[in-house]
Amino acid sequence: MRIILYTGKGGVGKTSISAATGLELGRRGYRTLVMSVDPAHSLSDAFDLSQDLMDRTTGRPLKVAKNVWIQEVDVLEEIGRHWDSVYAYVSALLNVSGLEQTLAEELAVFPGMEEVSSLLYVNQYVREKSFDVMLIDCAPTGESLRFVSIPTTLEWYMSKIFKLERRVARMVRPMVEKFANFPLPQEEYFANLEDLHRKLCGIDKVLADPEITTVRLVTNPEKVVLKETQRAFTYFCLYGMTVDAVIINRILPEAIEGGFFTAWKQTQERWIRAVEEFFAPVPVWRVPLFQDEVLGVERLKGLGKELYGSRDPAKRFFDQPPYRFRKVNGNYHLEMRLPFVSAEHVDLYKKLDELVIRVGSYKRHIALPQRVARCEPLSARVRNGELVVVMGRNNAEPKTEVTTSSRS
Ligand SMILES: Nc1ncnc2c1ncn2[C@@H]1O[C@H](COP(=O)(O)OP(=O)(O)OP(=O)(O)O)[C@@H](O)[C@H]1O
Ligand SMILES: [Mg+2]
Repeated sequence: MRIILYTGKGGVGKTSISAATGLELGRRGYRTLVMSVDPAHSLSDAFDLSQDLMDRTTGRPLKVAKNVWIQEVDVLEEIGRHWDSVYAYVSALLNVSGLEQTLAEELAVFPGMEEVSSLLYVNQYVREKSFDVMLIDCAPTGESLRFVSIPTTLEWYMSKIFKLERRVARMVRPMVEKFANFPLPQEEYFANLEDLHRKLCGIDKVLADPEITTVRLVTNPEKVVLKETQRAFTYFCLYGMTVDAVIINRILPEAIEGGFFTAWKQTQERWIRAVEEFFAPVPVWRVPLFQDEVLGVERLKGLGKELYGSRDPAKRFFDQPPYRFRKVNGNYHLEMRLPFVSAEHVDLYKKLDELVIRVGSYKRHIALPQRVARCEPLSARVRNGELVVVMGRNNAEPKTEVTTSSRS
């Protein structure tokens, strides 16, 4: 079983590349599902399918070629199916805050529900071993980061907050309902969350297991796109996910020379070199700009051929683990690949048996092995794209602050 995420900035070619990869895998005999988790689906457009056909299959897998299925998850339908009590509670809460009912219902689709709805399918197919390979055509970078961060966040919420919240709600409900005019979540709300948690159980491990899941970053040879690709790379590392290839799409072909395109060609050459330097040793693949849009099975197959040649897309092309613990001179070192950030953008602290690392607005809780959990963070540094946190027994006064030195 393999899961491969294709992600990148809006419009770089994620959907076309996912679809082309699906066809190449199908040709090689892998039962493959290409799943779109972007609410603005365009997978069916890439295959040039009619909206009518998609409407009739409503969010279920649809066979598009030998061994190849596509699925566009219908978020609203999934919310109705999986989130009824949570949704009812949140919209009731928004409603008493003075919002008109229909607007409250709109807003009650809070961030994360869409991603969880898609993850439920991924986990179901993993459990049922429905496919050999699942390709995830992600939403533009920001949202796809939420997709991968939700399982760890949910796990953390369920283990640390959920039970307490449920107990508090049970205790104070009679009193609050008498005196306050806002609703407290009912038992069904908690039961709904518990049910979702049970259905998602294990997905965090599946996503973080490089034997199963890898990420492929799609980019274009342009400065602004590349900046976002670097940020995405950092955050996927933070979530313990392995990026096993970077794909540069829309490269002007050799045949195009001079005239209007002179500056474009120079700019592209410059950023292609930069991509290869930035992401080494992760493999970088190139795809030319085609003469026209890449629509329909035949053109997608052409894209697949250009991209993979004789390579098997299901392989793992890079498998360095994103982080590891090592014992060095009696201390423990947590070493985490965290390229493109400097120390001042990293914040970390230890809380019970977890190390919490924050980069920008993204936070990761790393469960510490038992022996390491007894240590405190003594120092941290970012060097050559790697964060090293030294953990040890602190014999002096307990030290809460961690010093980080600048990247060299
Ligand atoms: N190498 C290429 N040559 C020519 N056209 C391309 C190439 N790659 C993608 N396209 C075209 O560019 C358009 C956008 O591609 P695509 O939908 O795959 O991007 P995306 O990253 O999925 O976009 P979004 O962020 O909106 O989901 C499509 O019309 C597609 O056919
Ligand atoms: Mg797309």
